[in-house]
Amino acid sequence: MAIRKVGVVGCGLMGSGIAQISAQAGFPTVVREISPELLERGMGSIRKFLRGGVEKGKLIQADMDKALASLEGTTKLEDLAGCDLVIEAATENLAVKKELFQALDGLCGPEAIFASNTSSLSITEMSTFVKRPERVIGLHFFNPVPLMKLVEVVHTLRTDAGALAAAKAWCMAIGKTVVSCGDSTGFVVNRLLIPYMVDAVRAFEQGLASRDDIDNAMKLGCGYPMGPLFLADYVGLDTTYYITEIMFNEFKEPRFAAPPLLKRMVLAGMHGRKTGRGFYDWSTHPPS
Ligand code: 3HC
Repeated sequence: MAIRKVGVVGCGLMGSGIAQISAQAGFPTVVREISPELLERGMGSIRKFLRGGVEKGKLIQADMDKALASLEGTTKLEDLAGCDLVIEAATENLAVKKELFQALDGLCGPEAIFASNTSSLSITEMSTFVKRPERVIGLHFFNPVPLMKLVEVVHTLRTDAGALAAAKAWCMAIGKTVVSCGDSTGFVVNRLLIPYMVDAVRAFEQGLASRDDIDNAMKLGCGYPMGPLFLADYVGLDTTYYITEIMFNEFKEPRFAAPPLLKRMVLAGMHGRKTGRGFYDWSTHPPS
């Protein structure tokens, strides 16, 4: 089957990016948020990114207009009924995802593919929420979605080969590179990235080096675009902590365990970029 129309559930950081690149690639795309305020915030960030692209000379105005014309925002899940692919990028809460997928199962055609952008929850478990488990996959995008080239395409033990091929073809059509993997918590990237980031927090907590020295070591010594503490702030310390909890519960390996400092920063509301304070102060530009 070919994917013609795309639905995205959630217009936050990830959902807005996914909806944007889908529309930019010319796919009629409907993005749904739970309130007009959240929808407007997400659509505003899409317009801002596209405008930035025009200002940087990466995009011409006509392409921006075309992308916005392909994009429809809604607060009604029913508006996703005609979509061939629905990507869920809602909050990382299995109960929320269950409710969403069950509702979508009743709304969408039997051939529609359901994907989740989860970073660490089980795609197999999500597939049990619907009457089409063989059409449920993971499409894990990376932040910032319009700039990061990768999508992890996740299959379960019962994913239909045709559905998987259609989803991969769509990822390539929107300009992404695909890696395939099975449904193991954290997939490939977070399996490797999370221990690296929490090790950096541990090194900082134990006084090995200063924040800037740890970040500069990895930036300048290894050519990484961001140091690990900056990246943890960028991803969100709450998100990073949440993923460590899920991965530790799954694998019971110390390398996935959250260092006490990470937990305390999250408890103190220091979630990184999104709250303005983490390892860095994000109220300044650039973060200090
Ligand atoms: N429209 C189009 N292009 C744009 C743009 C816009 N609005 N804004 C920037 N760009 C382009 C720039 O022109 C530039 O293109 P070029 O390479 O051809 O010159 C490119 O995008 C990079 O932009 P900038 O130069 O402004 O920014 P940086 O060079 O500082 O790079 C970054 C920014 C891409 C975010 C880089 O720092 C990076 O790769 N960081 C690592 C991010 C990362 O690791 N993300 C993954 C997080 S983990 C995750 O998401 C998974 C989750 O489950 C935890």
